[in-house]
Amino acid sequence: MTTVRSTLPDDARKVACEALQDTLVDLLGLSLVGKQAHWNVVGPRFRSIHLQLDEVVTSARDFADTVAERSAALGVPPDGRPETVAKAFTLPAPQEGWVRDSDAVQVMVDALQDAVARLRERIDATEKADPVTQDLLIGITAELEKQRWMFDAENFPR
Ligand SMILES: [Fe+2]
Repeated sequence: MTTVRSTLPDDARKVACEALQDTLVDLLGLSLVGKQAHWNVVGPRFRSIHLQLDEVVTSARDFADTVAERSAALGVPPDGRPETVAKAFTLPAPQEGWVRDSDAVQVMVDALQDAVARLRERIDATEKADPVTQDLLIGITAELEKQRWMFDAENFPR
């Protein structure tokens, strides 16, 4: 079997690609969480939240592609299989069934907040190992933090 050769030494590649794989799982899961809420949200704020959720889904899918391809470029095959995501995904998600608009907002705040916290750990971890991967993670974090803010701003008055 042929493999893609890495441009990084083994240790650095391991650190970078673990960070990328964990981020891939979070982003793929987040795209599913966003769609689940998009389909099931009910309440007076349905329209705006329904549309806002698709912005998260679009970002999460685009970023998933970016991190998966970064991993491939570093010589480690990305794993985006459903069973892998199901096993490894731990961010908050909506319960089964209809979701009140205020609950949809809260679950997205929580999911994005946790995703950002985990990304920040990976930003630290990849600083020396691979600043290029770190740079990708920083860009993703900035966008997810922006989206967390926009959902949180919907929470007032609490
Ligand atoms: Fe839709």
